Amino acid sequence: MGAARPFRQAGENGLKEDSNLGHDDVDRRQLLVRTGVALAAAGLTGLDEVAAAPRADAALGWDDVRAQFRVSRSLIHMGGLYLASHPGPVRRAIDRHRRGLDADPVGYLHRNGDRLEADVLRAAGSYLVARPTYIALTDSTTMGLGLLYGGLSLRPGDEVLTTTHDFYATHEALRLAAERAGATVRRVALYRDPARATEDELVGNLARAIGPNTRVVALTWVHSSTGVKLPVWRLVQSLSRRGSLLVCLDGVHGLGVENETVGSLGVDFLVAGCHKWLFGPRGTGLVWGRASAWPAVRPTIPAFSGGSPARDFTPGGFHSFEHRWALAEAFRLHGRIGKGRVAARIHALNRRLKDGLASLSHVTLLTPRSEALSSGIVVFSVDRLSPNAVVSALARRRIVATVTPYTPSHARLAPGLLNTPGEVDRVLAAVRALR
Ligand SMILES: Cc1ncc(COP(=O)(O)O)c(C=O)c1O
Repeated sequence: MGAARPFRQAGENGLKEDSNLGHDDVDRRQLLVRTGVALAAAGLTGLDEVAAAPRADAALGWDDVRAQFRVSRSLIHMGGLYLASHPGPVRRAIDRHRRGLDADPVGYLHRNGDRLEADVLRAAGSYLVARPTYIALTDSTTMGLGLLYGGLSLRPGDEVLTTTHDFYATHEALRLAAERAGATVRRVALYRDPARATEDELVGNLARAIGPNTRVVALTWVHSSTGVKLPVWRLVQSLSRRGSLLVCLDGVHGLGVENETVGSLGVDFLVAGCHKWLFGPRGTGLVWGRASAWPAVRPTIPAFSGGSPARDFTPGGFHSFEHRWALAEAFRLHGRIGKGRVAARIHALNRRLKDGLASLSHVTLLTPRSEALSSGIVVFSVDRLSPNAVVSALARRRIVATVTPYTPSHARLAPGLLNTPGEVDRVLAAVRALR
């Protein structure tokens, strides 16, 4: 007996398949920059699956945004790079779906599952300016990295190039994949001193590291070890004459912060969790791949829907559906605030924090001051104090900071949409007092 897929086949989930367009990615960065994402999405790029970017609501102030969250008001939350608090629209959607599932699990799923998943994919596609059919849903960045790197068709002798700055999940997923295939993994440093890193240094170091057997380049958009943001477009362009090289990006600390699209990044695969900066439900994530790249990966977990490479790649089985379906609301919230406003606000808060930290003689700032090379993460050390001691001292002042899980480790703050300039100033006062 042939095994039937438990759920959908191509086209059954309300998403048109895209056999004849064959060019999913908007790799015309200049066009996007000059004309704006909405215009590109509306037709100039031929992306007929891309919904027009939602109109930002300029009246939505930062206090309104903060009011969406039930975070404890007695804390200053600078750990949004770690795990999201659910905003109102996400909480309400989760509650709605949970009530439906609890009342009639089978009926609610059958009546709504396809439609709700298609809605999530459309919302994600609109946010990324990508066609929904090239997006796979996952539970986390780590799951996406494991599936992507584990699914690469590597051969003995192939090389995967990554960097010393990447997160454990990238390194470990690559190690496991290379071991199985008889391939090798090489790690290069893109910069020596993060605070003084330059674009030319990053681009030159990566381009020089590519060897004749390099098949895959695995990068992270914003390094959670140092706060360095890679100039992804420039890096990819410096590699663009290298034929079949795949460039894969862990984008978790750029998604929900930076005003970029899959086209303006220019990578082949973008992997991200949605439960950090984006404020998606905990346990959500995605993998986007360009049309020409998807055939390079094989699925690992049996899919419950099929018909396109991204659908085949999407792990099947029953999920925490109420969380997965509520993810659409997180993308919509960002659309309502406006991706440009989000980026400007987070950069302004981080600039304020870095300017303040840089003026303190007992503090060493590791994150670049340049906004082109940094994002929402500020990494620093305090003379004569361990990172744990710094984070504990801040915790006593009701400030949530984290320690970077790297060697060497450092203290880390991540000002985001939950924060105000006044909170940044209170954090600076607390760090000043650590003398
Ligand atoms: C760069 C980077 N990638 C991935 C992760 C893990 O993300 P997730 O929880 O979505 O697996 C982290 C930290 O949590 C990280 O800093």
